[in-house]
Amino acid sequence: MTTVTAEPYWQNIFQRLLGELDGRNSPDWHADEASLDPAIYLDDERFAREQAQLFRRFPLCLGPADQLREPGSVMARDICGVPVLMTRTRENTVKVLLNVCRHRGARLVVEEGEPCRRQSLVCPYHGWAYRLDGSLAGVPRAEAFPTLDRHLTGLRELPSAVRHGMIWAMLDPAAALPDMASFLDGVDGDLAAAGLGSHRFYRQSTSRRATNWKLIVEAFLEIYHVTRLHSGTIGPFFADSVSVSDPLGPHIRFLAARDRTRDIRDLPPERWTLSEHGTLVHYVFPNTIIIHHPDYLSHLGLFPIGPGETLFVHSMLTPSLPRDDKAEAHWARSFDLIDRGVFAGEDLPICEQIQRGLASGANDRLIVGRLEQNLKRFHASLDQALG
Ligand code: FES
Ligand SMILES: [Fe+2]
Repeated sequence: MTTVTAEPYWQNIFQRLLGELDGRNSPDWHADEASLDPAIYLDDERFAREQAQLFRRFPLCLGPADQLREPGSVMARDICGVPVLMTRTRENTVKVLLNVCRHRGARLVVEEGEPCRRQSLVCPYHGWAYRLDGSLAGVPRAEAFPTLDRHLTGLRELPSAVRHGMIWAMLDPAAALPDMASFLDGVDGDLAAAGLGSHRFYRQSTSRRATNWKLIVEAFLEIYHVTRLHSGTIGPFFADSVSVSDPLGPHIRFLAARDRTRDIRDLPPERWTLSEHGTLVHYVFPNTIIIHHPDYLSHLGLFPIGPGETLFVHSMLTPSLPRDDKAEAHWARSFDLIDRGVFAGEDLPICEQIQRGLASGANDRLIVGRLEQNLKRFHASLDQALG
C-alpha cells in the first residue's frame, strides 16, 4: 500500500479540503456560472487547430517507461495519426521513433499497443534493418544504393524524455522538447511527492471511443458526478461534491474528499495520507489525467482520432510488482473495478452519449456550475494555446 504522508507537502491542500467539508469556502463558490459551446466538440476546423497547435506543439505523455521493461522491448502505437515506435535500447535508453522505414515508408512494427521483444527492427517490405536506437544497420543488396549514407538514414527520432517514470515526447520531429520540470510547473513537485517515478507498470487497456477527447478530460475534473454516476461502484467512498483545486500553469491539481477525509480532524497532519484521506487528480496539459487511487495510480492518455473519436489508453501503476498470487489477485481485482467497472462501465459511455447528444443539436450551450469550475480552467488553458 502506498503511504504518502501529508506533512508537509500536502498539508495545506488537506486543510483547505477540511475547510470545504465544514462549509463552502472555496473561491469557486463565488464564481459565475459559465457555458460551453457544443461546437468545440464537433467542429472539424477546431479539431484541425487542436491537432496543429496542441498535439504537435506540446509534449505528450505517451505512457510508463516501465512498460518497456527490458532492453530490447519495443512498442508501436499510432498517436494522433503519427505512427510512433517506443524502444528500450541495449544501452537501456528509451527512444521514441517514427515507425516508418526510411526506404519507402513501410511500417516496421505492425503489432500495435503490445510491447514485444526485438533484436533489431527489420522492415517487412524489403528487409532494411535498424538497431533499436533507430540507426540503420543493414540494407539487402546494398550495391543498389551506391550513394546511400547509412549514418543519415536512421529512423526519424521524436524529441523525448523520461520524467517521473513516464515517456514524454513531441509528435513533431522538428520541434524542441521543453525542459520537462519547467513544463510540468507545480505538477512536477506533486508527482515527485506522490512517488510516481518509483511506481511499476501493472496493466493497460486501450480502446477507441466514440467521443471527443475533451469530454473524457472533463469527466475527471469534477466531483459533482462521482456519488451519482458511480453510486454502484466507487461513489460510496467519496463525500458528496467536496473538492479543492489549483491551476498549476496550464495544468490542474484537484483533491476530492473521501468518506474518510473527516477522520483527519482527529489525526496529526503527519498521518494525513493520500492513500486514505483524499483522492488526488492531476490534469497535465493538454491530454493527460493522473489519478492517485488509495493504493495505485491510473494514467489516462487521451489521443484524438477525429472530433468524435478518441484513443483511450489507461495504464495502471502499482507501488511494486505483485510479489505473489495474492498480490496479483488484488491488483487484478482493482484493475477490473476501475477499468471495466468504472471507466468502461460508467464514465466513457456517458461521454459517448454526450457526443451523440451534442451532435443532435439539442443543446445550444452546455451549462457549467460552481462545482465544475475546473472545466473553465481546462478550457482557458486550451484557449490560450489555441490563440
Ligand atoms: S520500405 Fe522498408 S525496406 Fe523498403
Ligand atoms: Fe467518473
